[in-house]
Amino acid sequence: MSTEAAIKDLPDDAVVLELEDLVMHFGPVRAVDGVSLRLRRGQVMALVGESGSGKSTVGRCIVRLLEPTSGHVRIDGTDVTHLSRAALREHRRQVSIVFQDPAGSLNPRMLVGDVVAEPLRLQGRGLSRRDRQARVAEGLGRVGLRDEVARRYPHELSGGQRQRVSIARALMSDPTLLIADEPTSALDVSVQASVLNLLADLQRDIGFACLFITHDLSAVEYLADEIAVMYLGQLVEQGTRESIFARPSHPYTQALLSAAPVPDPVQQRSRRAVLLGDDIPSAMDPPSGCRFHTRCPVAVQRCVDEVPLLRRVGANTVACHLVQDDGSGPDVRVLGGPSRWTPAGLEDGVTQDTAPGTSPTRPQRSTG
Ligand SMILES: Nc1ncnc2c1ncn2[C@@H]1O[C@H](COP(=O)(O)OP(=O)(O)OP(=O)(O)O)[C@@H](O)[C@H]1O
Ligand code: SF4
Ligand SMILES: [Mg+2]
Repeated sequence: MSTEAAIKDLPDDAVVLELEDLVMHFGPVRAVDGVSLRLRRGQVMALVGESGSGKSTVGRCIVRLLEPTSGHVRIDGTDVTHLSRAALREHRRQVSIVFQDPAGSLNPRMLVGDVVAEPLRLQGRGLSRRDRQARVAEGLGRVGLRDEVARRYPHELSGGQRQRVSIARALMSDPTLLIADEPTSALDVSVQASVLNLLADLQRDIGFACLFITHDLSAVEYLADEIAVMYLGQLVEQGTRESIFARPSHPYTQALLSAAPVPDPVQQRSRRAVLLGDDIPSAMDPPSGCRFHTRCPVAVQRCVDEVPLLRRVGANTVACHLVQDDGSGPDVRVLGGPSRWTPAGLEDGVTQDTAPGTSPTRPQRSTG
């Protein structure tokens, strides 16, 4: 089944966000290259993948800080891909974003109260000064900050407090969708958990849908209902948190998750971390066929020649030639051997000759 068919399974009124074949190129850089997904009302979808895989670019296309090269972004059924300036204003009420670095995303010359009130002003809501102050106090209160913070400047606050201000501002317009782009990764480890807990509580209480962009797998396990995995501008696997953690099908997902502990100690003992190294190919010249083939421990010739399509496999959608329709296929975490694999055969131009649909042979291992 194609992604197209798979994502159509959801009833329309349950869908807040729909991306259809989203493409964002920056000149020769193919940052996002055909991403389709659907996010339900009130759900949290984690978007994961290594640095440079295109996660932030997807987020910025959704809030329309970027105008996509092609494809469609729909919010509540409305196509927002190429909105006029006036229509963007309503869009920015519906969809908010929290960035990684609160220091960079808050205007240092504005008082916190004005920062938080900005969405109200931009929407031209005719509130009296008093009502506005009351709304700001309420907004700050729900992120755990006292009213008096409104009279301070962002630089007078700690990193955690500043990120709470960013969250308060983002929620001021009662968005149906929040994009949280690595909302805790720039913070001290000691405050990351409290900001994450705050986000989780707010999401549960208010019920906005959230696209949660992160590298932090424990945060994914804690917060996400759905997980979408990106590699070099494309989705390689998507599914519920339970199914992705319990049974990741794509070798790249398996490698990403291999560092995360599994609850079953027997399973845990038979697994090992798969280190993929830093040799991520350039988004300017992505590999042929499966873009992961230059790093995939179980790649075969077909992976070089043919692009694997996303298709429904059990509870997940997966793009891999070796994953069978019943979800069986290679598990790169239990292949044994040293912890670093390189597809040496492929690098030599001699691909392993495993017929698709059969259990792959053990790939050559790097000796270095
Ligand atoms: N404005 C831009 N101009 C040119 N290239 C860009 C621009 N923004 C992003 N890119 C490129 O697009 C690709 C995807 O970048 P993006 O920031 O979306 O990745 P990411 O998955 O968010 O990475 P990270 O985890 O490091 O935040 C990268 O190759 C990046 O260099
Ligand atoms: S087995 Fe082939 S198709 Fe599957 S992830 Fe590896 S390289 Fe891609
Ligand atoms: Mg990013």
